[in-house]
Amino acid sequence: MKFAQTGIPGLDKMLDNKGIPAGYSVSIIGAPGAGKTTLAMQFLYNGVKLFKERGLYVSLDENISRLKEAMLSVGIDLNGLRGKSLNFIDATQLRSVPSHLEVGGYDVKKEEFSLLSLMESIRSKVEEAKVKRIVIDPLAMLTVLFPNESERRIAVADLIQHLSTLGATSLLLTELPTDAPIRSYQIEDYLSQGAIIMKKIRNENHLSYVIQIEKMRGVQHDNQARLYKIDQGGINVIPSESILYATI
Ligand SMILES: Nc1ncnc2c1ncn2[C@@H]1O[C@H](COP(=O)(O)OP(=O)(O)O)[C@@H](O)[C@H]1O
Ligand SMILES: [Mg+2]
Repeated sequence: MKFAQTGIPGLDKMLDNKGIPAGYSVSIIGAPGAGKTTLAMQFLYNGVKLFKERGLYVSLDENISRLKEAMLSVGIDLNGLRGKSLNFIDATQLRSVPSHLEVGGYDVKKEEFSLLSLMESIRSKVEEAKVKRIVIDPLAMLTVLFPNESERRIAVADLIQHLSTLGATSLLLTELPTDAPIRSYQIEDYLSQGAIIMKKIRNENHLSYVIQIEKMRGVQHDNQARLYKIDQGGINVIPSESILYATI
């Protein structure tokens, strides 16, 4: 079995010093500001710099030049990557496709068109640039397009199935609505092969961040919640420091 190391030493240690099984789709779940985008960009950046694997960042929400500025503030210089090593798809305009349109003589609903065109642009970029790592940030747009739970389930399943046929290792970023002590499970938790939770915990005046691998098929992983920091270099997991927190 092959693995995609994250290049974040503490996190790879939690993954049996191996990493994420290559070709798997993993949900990264957390409240806004928990560091999901930062962790995902480190996964892509380290993929290029340390493991010679090309990356693709699919933005459904984030302005790409603003994202690059934010990463620079934690010392990750995405402009320093050359050629086709890091690719971007700006899919933020998908929201503005008309509600009905005709494709090849068929009337196609907006949400179906959006998903199909998204999957097609991912496929062509992956093939063109020989991409091995994909980040989709965030999956929430599918919730907007498919408010109906059963339709959304099919859409997420289609997307995960599509990603697995591309042979790349994928991170699917999922916003949790709040920092509620007990989170509700989302469809992608069941459908993806792994789930990593990132959480901010406020105790008195102090803010701590904790990360926990809730599920990861194919690797003997740490199942404790571990502390992490966001500073120069991005996310730094401190694997020796577990935290007693049963309700993460
Ligand atoms: N230069 C920095 N030093 C320390 N923390 C930072 C810095 N830049 C951003 N952060 C923190 O990183 C977090 C933003 O991470 P981000 O990856 O955008 O989160 P998410 O994608 O989960 O919303 C915020 O909590 C912010 O406070
Ligand atoms: Mg984000």
